[in-house]
Amino acid sequence: MDLLQLRDKNVVVMGVANERSIAWGIAKRLLEVGANVIFTYRKERSKGKIDKVLENYTEYNTAVVECDVNSDESIRAAFSQIGEKYGTIHGIVHSVAFAHAEDLKNRFVETSRDGYAFAQDTSAYSLVAVANAARPYMAEGGSIVTMSYLGAERVLDGYNVMGVAKAALEASMRYLAADLGAENIRVNAISAGAIRTLAAKGVPSFNTILHKIEETSPLKRNVNQEEVADMTLVMLSALSRGVTGETIYVDSGYNIMG
Ligand SMILES: NC(=O)c1ccc[n+]([C@@H]2O[C@H](COP(=O)([O-])OP(=O)(O)OC[C@H]3O[C@@H](n4cnc5c(N)ncnc54)[C@H](O)[C@@H]3O)[C@@H](O)[C@H]2O)c1
Repeated sequence: MDLLQLRDKNVVVMGVANERSIAWGIAKRLLEVGANVIFTYRKERSKGKIDKVLENYTEYNTAVVECDVNSDESIRAAFSQIGEKYGTIHGIVHSVAFAHAEDLKNRFVETSRDGYAFAQDTSAYSLVAVANAARPYMAEGGSIVTMSYLGAERVLDGYNVMGVAKAALEASMRYLAADLGAENIRVNAISAGAIRTLAAKGVPSFNTILHKIEETSPLKRNVNQEEVADMTLVMLSALSRGVTGETIYVDSGYNIMG
């Protein structure tokens, strides 16, 4: 019995920068279960990396499309290109975030107006813009999953402006879930534990965070890409068809601890 029902479904995966990206872990699993995966990238360097890893996946149905989430024009162009080629979009993985390094290194109180707006635009508003651009192609209903982090709710050292952006991301996720539910489009967030990726390099206290999770989380260890990918597949699949507007923690239970 195919519980996931993701075979031959068209899923857009945004945010593969390299093989360490959370988005790559998800894409790999999606390909394994028979989904067609459309990758979007911002930098040519990322496209090169995606093309390279896909050399091992030539027998799968994949596409690679440019999409800079800071630009409405780029988002529109990307989704009309995807829509034209695939007709229907069944799922979207939004695994994109960015903030200026100085806004993570400096004290939070020193966050600049530009830095604040840029982090919000890239990391939170992008989900709204993407959902709106994809909506016309999600006529059969579908599932949108975004990646969040505990810094949305708690003050975590060095997460600063990105924590505020993740709070906005989770709130946007809930408003989108309420708005799109009537079209049978579900919207959820995965709050992933700390994983060493390119984006994580920007968080100054990252090593301390990893150690603290090992010491205090119920499972006494950190999570990996595969664990986040598996839960993302659940949230994209028919298994979670009754769930929308939720933040699901894949963090060894760290968030429950006092
Ligand atoms: N690594 C962690 O510990 C962790 C924990 C919880 C949540 N997350 C979240 O997971 C998501 C993926 O991050 P990751 O850790 O895999 O790092 P990553 O650096 O591999 O991925 C981040 C991606 O965002 C993309 N991006 C940035 N600005 C963009 C723009 N303007 N347009 C299009 N794409 C853009 C980058 O190209 C990159 O592919 C992010 O939202 C991140 O905040 C990460």
